[in-house]
Amino acid sequence: MKFNRISRGVGLFPILLAGTIAAPTKRDSNPPLRGSEALVGYSTTEKIASGTQPDIKYSLLPGQTENPDIGSYLDFEKVDNPQPIRGSTGSDDPGPRNYWYDRINSDKLAPPGTDNGQTINAQWPMGLSHNRRLGIDGAGWARQENTVVMPDAVDMAGVDMRLEPGGYRELHWHVAGEWSLVLNGSCRIQAVNPDGQTFVDDLTAGDVWFFPPGVPHSIQALSDGVEFLLVFDQGDFNEDNTFLATEVFLHTPKSVLSKNLGVPVSAFDNIPDDELYIFEGTPAPEDIEEQNVTTQSGVVPRTQSYSYHFSEQPAHEVAGGSVKIVDPLTFPIASNFSAAIVTVHPGGMREIHWHPTSDEWTFFIQGQGRATLFTAPDAATTFDYRAGDVGYFPQSNSHYIENTGDEDLMFVEVLQASQFTDMALGQWLASTPKQIVADTLNLSDSTLSQLKTEKQYVVAGSTSSSD
Ligand SMILES: *[C@@H]1O[C@H](CO)[C@@H](O)[C@H](O)[C@H]1NC(C)=O
Ligand SMILES: *[C@@H]1O[C@H](CO)[C@@H](O)[C@H](O)[C@H]1NC(C)=O
Ligand SMILES: *[C@@H]1O[C@H](CO)[C@@H](O)[C@H](O)[C@H]1NC(C)=O
Ligand SMILES: *[C@@H]1O[C@H](CO)[C@@H](O)[C@H](O)[C@H]1NC(C)=O
Repeated sequence: MKFNRISRGVGLFPILLAGTIAAPTKRDSNPPLRGSEALVGYSTTEKIASGTQPDIKYSLLPGQTENPDIGSYLDFEKVDNPQPIRGSTGSDDPGPRNYWYDRINSDKLAPPGTDNGQTINAQWPMGLSHNRRLGIDGAGWARQENTVVMPDAVDMAGVDMRLEPGGYRELHWHVAGEWSLVLNGSCRIQAVNPDGQTFVDDLTAGDVWFFPPGVPHSIQALSDGVEFLLVFDQGDFNEDNTFLATEVFLHTPKSVLSKNLGVPVSAFDNIPDDELYIFEGTPAPEDIEEQNVTTQSGVVPRTQSYSYHFSEQPAHEVAGGSVKIVDPLTFPIASNFSAAIVTVHPGGMREIHWHPTSDEWTFFIQGQGRATLFTAPDAATTFDYRAGDVGYFPQSNSHYIENTGDEDLMFVEVLQASQFTDMALGQWLASTPKQIVADTLNLSDSTLSQLKTEKQYVVAGSTSSSD
């Protein structure tokens, strides 16, 4: 890390010498916990000598000297001592401060001049979620984002889950609908629907599944292990509170289980005495046919299938990257989940847009980017995102996502909608009578004639980071 370059006479250490809270020094006798009552109020003894302001050494990025309303991305990983300054606004920061956060959140430390007021918090790094490590030999882990950490993300919640080879997510069901994108590796999923029809399938990175509310299912990692993203249609969903097969057996009288299943009470002598949730199992047979349970009820019909092999769908190329959509038009069982996987090349940007019918829950899969959330009437906040972060943009609140790195940025936008739709700012204005736009925004004829009537999804651009 470039960080130790700070020790060349700028940064933390010189700041501590001038006018900061003194580090405790060793004394002959140990002072009591509290000081004297005489310290309250005006002090007749302490004379504060007015010194000179400490000379904090820093350099500004080119974007910091321009008009703050231009708001170029500031790559604070490229400077030793980033400062909350844009144009003639702001001032230096002598500390205390957390340099590590400041470096990767330049739009928090030095927001563009166009930011204003207070929006919701539209960011949660999964890296700040408390992880739940499970299994004796490491069967997996799970960490979640919900309204506990993002109080305004009320319509959807998410879980990032890992299963080692052979690791299970126990047989379970829940009140919420569960939409999933496999992020890495592969897994076998199975379920039974209310008509007793059966379902089993193998999925790999990039594939999608959906389990409706109340439909019990299990997930088992295949030989390469698996990591997947779960998105639930309830913002206050808690992954720790699902209905587990073990728990329903533990909390039903054994006499009742015996009567219900037509076996002796002793059949339940060896059931687990606690939930399993995530645990190591016997490896799934390589041939999926061995786990294809077929009964008189038949299998879940293809049109109602719980899986969609999204990884096999090629992406639709656009100027600055690519987009591919999966929504109920092609994956009907997930009747209220619409999603797009968006790739943005370096310098490119998911165009300014909003979703007319739904909030957007976003997960960053690769790279880094930034977004400004605009909320009526005049609030705007810019957030910096990296792979592993969750974003949340409420219904009809406009936003863009700009690639701020030097590799492709990839993310998934998830909506609660029967069709993936968005309103694009550029297409809207290009398709509105020029006179109306000119009267409203005072844009020149030449500007208006360059607006594009086609939806862009992702626009191309040069890297805007000032380096
Ligand atoms: C899965 O993770 C491994 C290890 O980080 C990586 O090498 C591989 O490319 C990942 N696979 C996918 C499909 O992302
Ligand atoms: C399971 O068996 C049914 C009936 O033979 C068949 O239609 C279905 O494709 C099989 N599923 C898998 C995953 O092999
Ligand atoms: C779809 O989700 C939206 C937003 O949460 C909700 O208002 C609507 O009732 C849902 N529709 C269905 C059919 O579940
Ligand atoms: C529109 O812009 C022009 C400069 O191109 C300026 O002279 C004019 O005052 C502006 N009109 C309004 C209403 O702000």
